[in-house]
Amino acid sequence: MAGERLDLPQRLVIASHNAGKVVEIDDLLDPFGIEVIGAASLNLPEPEETGDTFEANAVLKAVAAVEGSGLPALSDDSGLSVWGLDGKPGIHSARWGGPSMDFNAAMARVEQELGDNPDRSASFFCVLSLAWPDGSVRSFEGRVDGMLEFPPRGDHGFGYDPIFVPDGDTRTFGEMEMAEKKTFNHRARAFAKLIGAADFH
Ligand code: IMP
Repeated sequence: MAGERLDLPQRLVIASHNAGKVVEIDDLLDPFGIEVIGAASLNLPEPEETGDTFEANAVLKAVAAVEGSGLPALSDDSGLSVWGLDGKPGIHSARWGGPSMDFNAAMARVEQELGDNPDRSASFFCVLSLAWPDGSVRSFEGRVDGMLEFPPRGDHGFGYDPIFVPDGDTRTFGEMEMAEKKTFNHRARAFAKLIGAADFH
């Protein structure tokens, strides 16, 4: 399907129960006049993330939301790959927060596992998958590279934002307003590819 134009639906289920992601995706979709429905408001269950790549997990979440709603669905699978930890937590980023999604603990674990490793480089990845009731699915990946700094700084955003300083800046994502992050973070870059592939009538 690569290269085919993509019709954007009028109504779209956001296949995520992660409030931080839903806020960012809502904001990115806002200019396109698409009615957005949250997975939580439809009581859609969260499927188990059994894939071993961001794309596999994004696809399974989008397909599950289509099956549960009968509507087109957009999912996001994302995470932080820390290169001094061989790419961990990666697809396990949410799971490092534990059942209570405690990202102070997850950030402390990253710091502890890095120890005195001088390699502080890291990348955020995001795969957005758009799935349709006819079974078709398209996926788009975005990435942003940066360095980790401790202790965490800033109270904007979510997850690992307070320890990630994107290349070219001195502030963490936690210290940036969403209006700024949405111009270049991993989710924005995946979204720009999706919009680039979309057909506007
Ligand atoms: P999942 O895609 O639902 O498996 O969860 C991805 C996890 O990666 C989130 O729970 C966050 O901890 C982390 N993550 C993904 N995107 C971001 C981001 O933009 N900022 C901070 N953390 C993120």
